[in-house]
Amino acid sequence: MSSIESFKQEERVFNPPADFVNNAAISGMDAYNALCAEAAEDYEGFWARLAQQNVIWSKPFTKRLDESNAPFYKWFEDGELNVSYNCLDRHLTNGNADKVALIFESDDGKVTRVTYKELYERVCKFANGLKELGIQKGDRVIIYMPMSVEGIAAMQACARIGATHSVVFGGFSAKSLQERIIDAGAVAVLTSDYQVRGGKNLPLKAIVDEALALGGCDTIRKVVVYKRTGGDINFVAGRDIWLHELVEKQAAECAPVAVGAEHPLFILYTSGSTGKPKGVQHSSGGYLLWAMLTMKWSFDIKPDDVYWCTADIGWITGHTYVTYGPLACGATQIVFEGVPMFPNAGRFWDMVQKHKVTIFYTAPTAIRSLIKAADADAAVHPSKYDLSSLRLLGSVGEPINPEAWMWYYKNIGGERCPIADTFWQTETGGHVISPMPGATPMVPGSCTLPLPGIAAAVVDEAGHDLANGKGGLLVIKRPWPSMIRNIWNDPERFQKSYFPHELGGGTYLAGDGAIRNEETGYFTITGRIDDVLNISGHRMGTMEIESALVANPIVAEAAVVGKPDETTGESICAFVVLKRSRPSGDEAKQIAKELRDWVAKEIGPIAKPKEIRFGDNLPKTRSGKIMRRLLRVLAKDEVITQDISTLENPAILEQLKQAQ
Ligand code: PRX
Repeated sequence: MSSIESFKQEERVFNPPADFVNNAAISGMDAYNALCAEAAEDYEGFWARLAQQNVIWSKPFTKRLDESNAPFYKWFEDGELNVSYNCLDRHLTNGNADKVALIFESDDGKVTRVTYKELYERVCKFANGLKELGIQKGDRVIIYMPMSVEGIAAMQACARIGATHSVVFGGFSAKSLQERIIDAGAVAVLTSDYQVRGGKNLPLKAIVDEALALGGCDTIRKVVVYKRTGGDINFVAGRDIWLHELVEKQAAECAPVAVGAEHPLFILYTSGSTGKPKGVQHSSGGYLLWAMLTMKWSFDIKPDDVYWCTADIGWITGHTYVTYGPLACGATQIVFEGVPMFPNAGRFWDMVQKHKVTIFYTAPTAIRSLIKAADADAAVHPSKYDLSSLRLLGSVGEPINPEAWMWYYKNIGGERCPIADTFWQTETGGHVISPMPGATPMVPGSCTLPLPGIAAAVVDEAGHDLANGKGGLLVIKRPWPSMIRNIWNDPERFQKSYFPHELGGGTYLAGDGAIRNEETGYFTITGRIDDVLNISGHRMGTMEIESALVANPIVAEAAVVGKPDETTGESICAFVVLKRSRPSGDEAKQIAKELRDWVAKEIGPIAKPKEIRFGDNLPKTRSGKIMRRLLRVLAKDEVITQDISTLENPAILEQLKQAQ
């Protein structure tokens, strides 16, 4: 990972190629500046114009932004719409009906194409099936499904009937799933028998069974199961139903239910700095507007593009840039079931070549591991594939270090494709800081400038603006249409986490540090300022992992910190005190393995600590507070040069130096 220093020194500038600029919808910096000026002049009018032009409203809005109960902002409140109508029905009459919406490629390489008309029918049948099960507008539905046409259809079907979905990534454990079911008060779980990734069949339905057996999920009435592999599963009579049996008898039309613009389209759980994940609640109108606008602004989406976002529907990227944005814009997109390394590390490039992908959007972690693989094996080097169809690349989820940016630019983009380094978060709903590829000159490692209308700034802890060149807190000073609306069941935490008093109560605190370039004002994100880690672009709270560790009966105490990692950005390093004496040698290795498996069971494999170190104690202040900043230094195997005068037990540092 590059340090802030190396970002600061980055002086290479790459202008978007002339060809790209000439053909782009937002062409040249004048066009970008004109949009920014329009927003500055009449902020609400700007968004209202875009909302009228992009979204199809079943009842037009007359209200624009309501700030009367800040920070519970409302956008286009009296307008009504249906998000699924906007993604599907609109294409039946605009010439897109027979256009391919989804090109699905399974883990083993089987390709299925689904047109807009076909997808519309599948979603309608699915929606009618949900209605038959008694699911209604406002009900919450958990989706625990793999990357699949059915997974996307499940989300769209919920949107169609006004049910609020909450997708749980297939890598989360039964316990994580149970917690989300309970918090959301969900009435049904949509799942599949298995998911297939990297040549392996992984059970999903069995995990749903386990989650429900953990108790407290009494709100769940039905479990709908998509048959992916046909492998063995347990069936609970009366509760479980096969998806194909549910939908086969349904009509292929289902009237979309109009909902208010503020109706929660979905809740998506993400990690925060306390132990409990936050249910980020998004709206329907403002969210959809953003999904569409950013497809146009950051991706310059065009009717003949073959677009591919590699994110799973279990994350926000898969919501905005797989299920909603591309479909609302009538794009053709690739949906990939598998993983980048299977059957080998050339899989992504092989698929780009085969499907003639024009826009490719992935995470720096994937890029870094593919660089490694290409260095190790010439057969999977991107130069072995025809990538000439590509015209635009995107990056998301974590800072992209300039070296990885350059490799991506040269080896994948052939130095002709702009790279959209899109900064955003589960909470922002979509991109907020990103180059506009036909306008913004790019600097490796910088997400460049805020999208038009986004009042991003870098401030100090008291909310004062900082001069360019000074690092501070990233904030957004004005509400924007796709922002988080609430934390499900926890408005107090919503206010405290994102709109702290210190910043005036109405300014959105992103939770990231940032610095702006002295000359250009370009933003570079310097990483989280809270106890949230970013592992392979996935967010994980240190407290969540600590709670999981101490829930193990042999553990007395645990502290988790992030450690820079060449491939995954950050990795998890846990310092653990056992109730028994400190183990060493093979025994320590064995216990570390048991604890890793334990965390996988408690949260999911993505939360497994890469490294576990055992001590008789943790470094603490006299008042008993764990000194995490020292643990961060130890994890990096660096020498502690910081002040340790408040440390009560300095001898412990020596013990914790060694990894097991
Ligand atoms: O730290 C930032 C990092 O990812 C966090 C948001 O994670 P999540 O809500 O899971 O959403 C990921 C997909 C948008 C941010 O707080 N992050 C995201 N994009 C970038 C980034 N850091 C630097 N550069 C980015 N382009």
